Amino acid sequence: MNEFHRLVLQCRPGFEKEAAAEITDRAAEVGIYGYCQLESQSGYVLFTCPQSGDARVVVDKVDFGSLIFIRQWMACGDLQHLEAGDRIGQLSALLASYPDCIELWVEQPDTTEGRELVTFCRKFGSALAQFLRKSGKLVKSRRAQALRLQLFVLAGSEMYVGVAPVVNSAPWINGIPRLKFPKQAPSRSTLKLEEAWHWFVPVKQWDERIPLGGTAVDLGAAPGGWTWQLVNRSMFVTAVDNGPMNDELMESGQVTHVTEDAYQFFPEKPVDMMVCDVVEKPVRTAIMAADWVLGGYCREAVFNLKLPMKQRYQETQSCLSLIADRMAEAGVAYELRAKQLYHDREEITCILRLL
Ligand SMILES: C[S@@+](CC[C@H](N)C(=O)[O-])C[C@H]1O[C@@H](n2cnc3c(N)ncnc32)[C@H](O)[C@@H]1O
Repeated sequence: MNEFHRLVLQCRPGFEKEAAAEITDRAAEVGIYGYCQLESQSGYVLFTCPQSGDARVVVDKVDFGSLIFIRQWMACGDLQHLEAGDRIGQLSALLASYPDCIELWVEQPDTTEGRELVTFCRKFGSALAQFLRKSGKLVKSRRAQALRLQLFVLAGSEMYVGVAPVVNSAPWINGIPRLKFPKQAPSRSTLKLEEAWHWFVPVKQWDERIPLGGTAVDLGAAPGGWTWQLVNRSMFVTAVDNGPMNDELMESGQVTHVTEDAYQFFPEKPVDMMVCDVVEKPVRTAIMAADWVLGGYCREAVFNLKLPMKQRYQETQSCLSLIADRMAEAGVAYELRAKQLYHDREEITCILRLL
């Protein structure tokens, strides 16, 4: 029997404390008070709830889209220890007690050891999916509350077996979108902006919110990885940076390079999107993003907050609260979301826009 008294929460290795603080706060908001177990650099946190079923309450009631440091989650029970041989047979009694699911994902921690398990996970997942289809546990229905069966594998003999609501969990295995680095892009940072769009902008809204032929300002743009993404959307970009921009990008004719201080620059006409990847104190960037959106200089802002070495969760909360306070003072409806992206390091990426 699975008691669904535990959550497995995946995060960037090194950010386990932040993920633990986040789930503790967010679960408390829905009345679940549990405790965390974590190992530094493991890429995941366990959150144990007081009663069976509590973990299902958390994944149902807490909005996954509002989580920052948690990349993927699932409600589960105790760690399953399996012996070599018929592992599926050993899991079958447990799986029989599970609700029906519409798909199966087999995941592992985003660590060197975790990545070594990828081939095992793929093979085990395909054999298990076949077994589940035959036994009627994997069903086709696409109900709004559909569940996904998730395995979180620590070793061939050790795994957590859980569930997550399909619409309230990461839309990619391990919470990592597989993006291909575009060869022409001048820096690897380019993938940060692309990933941010995938997390924050529903596909159906791309044409309206990142409009082809639209306008953008890129603050701290050099050498041009983020500008490249905007130009790739056929946008006209003002790139603000004292440093040099990539020549090929400038030859596109869609980029105007301005050598000014990013924190003093404001466009003459409102733009569709402002993006900012300047390495600065996060609070300064947060204030600037609020100024841009409230001042009507852009329809939305995507900005990176570089986190300090210590008190990273607290710093994140205070920057986001500061923006929320500014929006509340102005009496406007807005969307503010933040995520530590797979392509982010000691930083998080945010989006802010008026509704
Ligand atoms: C992390 S890099 C940006 C990388 C860029 N997003 C890309 O994808 O290629 C940060 C940039 O911010 C610029 N920068 C730092 N402080 C700045 C300021 N006050 N005004 C304008 N640019 C600044 C730096 O020159 C640097 O090029």
